Amino acid sequence: MSLYRNSAWFLKGLTEFTRSAFLSASKSFVEKDLEASLAGRGTIHMVCRNKDKAEEARAELVKETGNKEVFVHILDLSETKKVWEFAEGFKRKYKTLNVLINNAGAILSEREVNTEGLEKSFATNVLGVYILTKSLIPLLEKSPDPRVITVSSGGMLVQKLRTGNLQSERGRFDGTMVYAQHKRQQVVMTEQLAKTHTNIHFAVMHPGWVDTPAVANAMPDFHRSMKESLRAPEQGADTVVWLSVSEAAVKNPSGRFYQDRKMVSAHLPLAWTRCSALEEQKLVSLLEDMAKTFQPH
Ligand SMILES: NC(=O)c1ccc[n+]([C@@H]2O[C@H](COP(=O)([O-])OP(=O)(O)OC[C@H]3O[C@@H](n4cnc5c(N)ncnc54)[C@H](OP(=O)(O)O)[C@@H]3O)[C@@H](O)[C@H]2O)c1
Repeated sequence: MSLYRNSAWFLKGLTEFTRSAFLSASKSFVEKDLEASLAGRGTIHMVCRNKDKAEEARAELVKETGNKEVFVHILDLSETKKVWEFAEGFKRKYKTLNVLINNAGAILSEREVNTEGLEKSFATNVLGVYILTKSLIPLLEKSPDPRVITVSSGGMLVQKLRTGNLQSERGRFDGTMVYAQHKRQQVVMTEQLAKTHTNIHFAVMHPGWVDTPAVANAMPDFHRSMKESLRAPEQGADTVVWLSVSEAAVKNPSGRFYQDRKMVSAHLPLAWTRCSALEEQKLVSLLEDMAKTFQPH
């Protein structure tokens, strides 16, 4: 079943994920939450796969903020060994990291594998995020207020964690549902990492339905019919910014799921998407084993 044909989920989306839902939620935002001091936290490292697009975004950032401490690193997150190499290199070069934002995400229409033989969207959305985060934890731990924010999706609400088909080898490959499963895996991964790394504040979030190239390319019909109701990119990014800098965010427990600056349930009411603690631990243990297989020596 297509994600957008799940009526309970779509109705929730119409009331909570749209531009008007953001405007309504934003009425209760506390303005001074974003007035946090960023002294010593102004350097930005952008990790992107496309050099031209990255340089363009960097130039725009520098122009708008006047902050020249913006650095571009080229990495394709679907290339598992390269993710390790990048993270290990970054750790050697830089002394500390305050906030890690895992934003890149992929929806593929057909199953593809990377050079390591892993399904590419899994490598990008799940294993790449896991390796980057795990490898950078020692650097984050050197910061007085370390945070990890992973951009998941409300699409995960229609998925129960499944650890038996991580490479999407069995059954028909439905890219949108595979993506939604990865977004569920990000939620579980975040909850688990928060339990084992208690000095870091972990959060996972849904940006709402946002007008971005990913949506236009991967879901053209949805994009066309919903265009007027989609959020602007800065509205989608608002909760990421709030989780990155506000004091209010870190007063909440670590490892939780957010929407519009609020902790919300990671399950629909009366949902069948909850799974056992054992299954959740299994995901992380499988990721850990897989990650080690590709770790440079
Ligand atoms: N837009 C929405 O309605 C919505 C809803 C829920 C969740 N999200 C989540 O929001 C996040 C951002 O997506 P978006 O909607 O803002 O789309 P977007 O503008 O297309 O951004 C996705 C970014 O991920 C990058 N990326 C994809 N695969 C990559 C790889 N293998 N290595 C490195 N970078 C890679 C893309 O790079 P290129 O520029 O090179 O393509 C792009 O910059 C994603 O995690 C997505 O799942 C979005």
